[in-house]
Amino acid sequence: MSAKKPLVVVTRRLPDVVETRMRELFDAQLNIDDRPMSRDQLIAALAKADVLVPTVTDRIDAGILSQAGDQLKLIANFGTGVDNVDLDTARNRGIIVTNTPGVLTEDTADMTMALILAVPRRLAEGASYLRNSQNKWDGWSPTWMLGHRITGKRLGIIGMGRIGQAVARRAKPFGLQIHYHNRHKVAPGIEQELEATYWDSLDQMLARMDIISVNCPHTPATYHLLSARRLKLLKPDAYIVNTARGEVIDENALARLVETSEIAGAGLDVFEHEPAVNPKLLQNDSVVVLPHLASATLEGRVDMGEKVIINIKTFLDGHSPPDRVHPAML
Ligand code: 8YV
Repeated sequence: MSAKKPLVVVTRRLPDVVETRMRELFDAQLNIDDRPMSRDQLIAALAKADVLVPTVTDRIDAGILSQAGDQLKLIANFGTGVDNVDLDTARNRGIIVTNTPGVLTEDTADMTMALILAVPRRLAEGASYLRNSQNKWDGWSPTWMLGHRITGKRLGIIGMGRIGQAVARRAKPFGLQIHYHNRHKVAPGIEQELEATYWDSLDQMLARMDIISVNCPHTPATYHLLSARRLKLLKPDAYIVNTARGEVIDENALARLVETSEIAGAGLDVFEHEPAVNPKLLQNDSVVVLPHLASATLEGRVDMGEKVIINIKTFLDGHSPPDRVHPAML
């Protein structure tokens, strides 16, 4: 008689190959409709699942975790950011949390670079001008729709982990000078390779940069790291790009600054109250908004799914899963 397979509840639709493999390995409860689960549905899932596979759209907070059944031992997050899970409560209840680092670094850095280019060069604005049938393009003009040069500008990266470094590697050949703020300096070899300048003081870096890229995780320490006060330090011709988490920036303060042209523009893939987007940001031509697409490649999502499966399988085989998240790591 074969042993009962562990119940793995997956909260959102995942790529077909990932779901097929999960069905083979586990008693997988999948979300074929892909409708985000309500709080009650999450509580019901945690009451019976051996393993939960949530994503950024599921808030696994202390209240929900307090109702988890004793059988729940692993939360294998489909995503690198784990700010959707209350890590301290999970640890106190003996629940291991894993994530999917590494496999979405390059895709996220590509999208960050795309925004770094798109915002100063007015790419989205130009494209939508032609698309809008109300506009009649009279042809090329020497002074119309001018943006700003990328080469020679200073890029300030906040958070020089995997993704921050991958952004720097792309930005350098475009002629951007690399500056960064991080909890600690990166290894001297990496600084040399990137010709990167470390700023211990975020305030001082902000005041001197032409483009800021947010690449740090959202943790209690980085919530509103770019507060209203800090945003005011930016030069009026500076741009901000965020592909990390909306909560790192005070979104209302940012919306006010772009509205009053106190900064030049922004490229945002993430929002503080996702899926809501501040209307002031949506309406502003100097802001490019994307619906959380930075890691949205088929290849990336399959790789993320494979990581989730490896984490679950390793754990069920009695070993420590490779991508275990320790609250102290963040
Ligand atoms: C995902 C992400 O879209 O992995 C992350 O942290 O932000 C994105 O790649 C999503 O969060 C998956 O849960």
